[in-house]
Amino acid sequence: MTTLTRQSASSATFPKVRLRRMRSSATLRELARETHLRLEKLIYPLFVVEGDGIKKPIGAMPGIHQQSVDEMMKEVEQAVAEGLKSLILFGIPAEKDNQATGAWSADGIVQKATREIKKNFPQLAVVADTCLCEYMDHGHCGIVADGHILNDASLSIIARTAVSQAEAGADIIAPSDMMDGRVGAIRRALDDAGFDHVPIMAYSAKFASALYGPFREAAQSAPQFGDRTTYQMDPANGREALREIEQDIAEGADIVMIKPALPYLDLVSQARMLTKLPIAAYNVSGEYSMVKAAAANGWIDEKRVVLECLTGIVRAGADLIITYHARDVAGWLA
Ligand code: PBG
Ligand code: ZN
Repeated sequence: MTTLTRQSASSATFPKVRLRRMRSSATLRELARETHLRLEKLIYPLFVVEGDGIKKPIGAMPGIHQQSVDEMMKEVEQAVAEGLKSLILFGIPAEKDNQATGAWSADGIVQKATREIKKNFPQLAVVADTCLCEYMDHGHCGIVADGHILNDASLSIIARTAVSQAEAGADIIAPSDMMDGRVGAIRRALDDAGFDHVPIMAYSAKFASALYGPFREAAQSAPQFGDRTTYQMDPANGREALREIEQDIAEGADIVMIKPALPYLDLVSQARMLTKLPIAAYNVSGEYSMVKAAAANGWIDEKRVVLECLTGIVRAGADLIITYHARDVAGWLA
């Protein structure tokens, strides 16, 4: 028995085994390829502002703009023509206050943009980012009192935002606030309002990351005091990330997300083992900006780097990827 084992183990090695054999031609490499990046798995983010004819580039995110609904619709049309099937919307309201009125009002900017997209492209999946920071004068993701970000008081307004986004036609609700209990609160509110068919994609393990820097310029959502470390996760904590994921699943999440993507692939892979739910990864603004900056300097081959990074995210276990590279990828995969 021991001899047999040792024999088969020793026989299964060089020079009998040559792993290069299956790499010897493009066709054999294709036959052996384990992971495929597919366009229908990508979700493309859009930043919508009030007004008309507005298309304002985001300095740190070449190719990405703040756009009014009319301009946004032109880009949506192009994205559809390129083969993209899902979008995620972020709104920048004309006015901010301490109740995030723009987040949940029926004529809020995301609600208007959603109605316009669904009217013209009913087959497109519109994901609504559900958060309050873009709509709050203080820039935090919840209600603030005495310098504290209140948890339970924020839940009803977050749930109200989700319902109003569903009423506008959003196909998926994606809470990114990191308040405890928000998935359950949103699920109950959606069900009570007759939206029991609308899924929740929870930003479950969302880390307090420096890689959100460029996004805060794009969404004008930087906190006006302090930071987000009392609600977003400590980048050092992997086990806690799995607890967040378990909590969101228990509260009724349909998809769980890890964000950012590349520095947290260990958690994408562990989440893959933990749950049968679809897993999303958010390839965030800073990850995008770093690639774009290096490419603009001629330091890296942009296409190869982007495809390698996104393939790595899929290999780690992600089913869906939110990425600003989606339109470029559509061009490359065509
Ligand atoms: C808002 C939100 C943020 C991102 C998505 N939703 C920023 C933040 O939490 O400060 C980051 C996305 C990115 O960097 O691309 N809650
Ligand atoms: Zn927020």
